[in-house]
This record gives sequence, C-alpha cells and structure tokens, in this order.
Amino acid sequence: MELAGKVILITGASRGIGAATAAALRARGARLALTARSEAALRETAAPADFRVAGDLCDEEFRAALVQRAAERWGRIDVLINNAGVGLYAPTWETPPVLGRQLFELNWFAPVDLARRVIPLMRAQRSGVIVNVSSIAGQIPLPWFTLYSASKAALLSLSDGLRMELAGSGVRVMAVCPGYVATGFQQHALGGAPPARLVSGKRFAVSAEECAEAMVRGLEREARLVVTPPLGRWLAGLYRLAPRLVEARLRRIHAVQEDSA
Ligand SMILES: NC(=O)c1ccc[n+]([C@@H]2O[C@H](COP(=O)([O-])OP(=O)(O)OC[C@H]3O[C@@H](n4cnc5c(N)ncnc54)[C@H](OP(=O)(O)O)[C@@H]3O)[C@@H](O)[C@H]2O)c1
Repeated sequence: MELAGKVILITGASRGIGAATAAALRARGARLALTARSEAALRETAAPADFRVAGDLCDEEFRAALVQRAAERWGRIDVLINNAGVGLYAPTWETPPVLGRQLFELNWFAPVDLARRVIPLMRAQRSGVIVNVSSIAGQIPLPWFTLYSASKAALLSLSDGLRMELAGSGVRVMAVCPGYVATGFQQHALGGAPPARLVSGKRFAVSAEECAEAMVRGLEREARLVVTPPLGRWLAGLYRLAPRLVEARLRRIHAVQEDSA
C-alpha cells in the first residue's frame, strides 16, 4: 500500500507509540487526523498540517464527532489506527468493576465503535484499512495483567472476524502485537504496578519508533498481523505448543512481585 496522500486517523497520538506512528506516517506523506485527550500534548507532537481533535474516547458522543470531523476535514478516511489503550496491574478479583469497565471502554468498546463508524465510509470508497493495536498479552495472558490481556485478546479476535466479514469489500484489517515498548504506558495505568522483574527487563524493550516503523511497514506490505519484536511470535507459538511451560515461567515472574509486596 502506498501511504503518500492517504488519510490516516490515529487514536492515542499525543505520545508513545501513537505519536511515533504519526511521525513515521507523516514522513511518508500521509495526511493525518490525530486524537487524544490532551489538547496541549497533541499540539506539541502534531505538525501544523495535521488535523487535531482532542477528547475522551470513552465518550461515545466524542467518538461520533471525531469520525465525522475527520471525514469532513479530509473528505475520506483511508486508515483507522485504533492505538489508544491503557493497562491495569491488579488481581482480577480485587479489581472494582468500574475500573474493569473503564479499561474495556477504551481498549475494546472504543475500537469497535470507531470501526463501526468508519467501515461504511471505507466500504463506499471500496478501500480502507482498520489497524487494531493489540499486544503480545493478547496472545499470551499475563497473570499481573489478566483483564488487560483479555481486552487485547478480544481485539485480536475482532480483527480476525472483521477481516472475514469484510472480504471482497476492499477493506482490510491488520492487528499489531507489540511486546515491551519503552513508553510511559506503565505510569499511565489505571492502577497497580508491573512486577519488578518486568521493570528490570526494560533493556529488552523496543523503542516507540521501532514499534511504529514495524507497524507502518506492515501497512505498506499489507500484512494481517505484525508482531514486534519478532521474538513475540516465537513466544506465542511456544505458548500454544507448551502452555504449562510458559505459564510456569510467568507465574515465577508474578510470584516475585507477590513476595516483595
Ligand atoms: N508500551 C508497551 O509496552 C505496549 C505493549 C503492547 C501494547 N501496547 C499498546 O500500544 C498502545 C499505545 O500504548 P503506549 O505505550 O503508546 O501508551 P501511552 O504512552 O500511555 O499512550 C497512550 C495514548 O492513549 C491516549 N489515551 C489514553 N486514554 C485515553 C482516552 N480515554 N481517550 C483518548 N485517548 C486516550 C493518551 O493520550 P491522553 O492521555 O492525552 O489521552 C496517549 O496518547 C496501547 O493500546 C497499548 O495497550 C503497548
């Protein structure tokens, strides 16, 4: 897919992976519509030519206005990148339902709703791409991150189902599974903290720019799934083949956190 001139709507574009993806796409000549809650942060990361719409994606009225304004501004939407997301480090049984709902509203209901609003435009154009930023945690449930993992697994399932629903319409679907990416994601979680062993493993993290580049190259080569770093594919394969082995390892990382709590 040639990205120059394409109209791309990116959620969570004020920092981290979203901001890096915006920069990579801008460098390829795409026209961007960027959104996040923080107007000031968006203004700082966006280029003058980008279209910015600040608001909370957990608000359904804002989601409707976002798609309408982006479509009016550029006359079309070629790619929707559902990137905004949030973590929550807490045992499932200790998570107040209100927090679980907040997590799913942003990580699951917002992407579904935005896709629902954008797909009719793309079907009329007979072209478009929906990109869902999931996670390796969507392929391998992480015990310190169960509800988050479930939200990201749902996003992978949505991507696979949508792809079949949209077959022959000209609209494609790509899922992205980043591993550990060095952003402020852990600090912005709705609650809790990651296991110490995970934090000390930060040296294995890829940068937001590397993750963004993998996503953009995936768009260019019309991939259905991008896993970054590629080691994630092996881990997910190992989990399918030998789940007990991987679970034992994850339990050990998690147990260190419980002991030190
Ligand atoms: N970092 C990782 O290790 C990692 C690994 C796998 C997957 N991912 C996924 O990658 C995506 C991006 O993560 P990141 O690392 O770049 O996180 P980040 O640095 O925390 O950025 C999150 C972005 O989402 C926006 N956002 C948060 N809540 C929002 C809301 N209610 N409404 C609208 N926008 C909202 C934030 O802007 P405002 O605060 O201004 O709204 C920000 O632009 C997420 O879906 C995450 O689950 C991350």
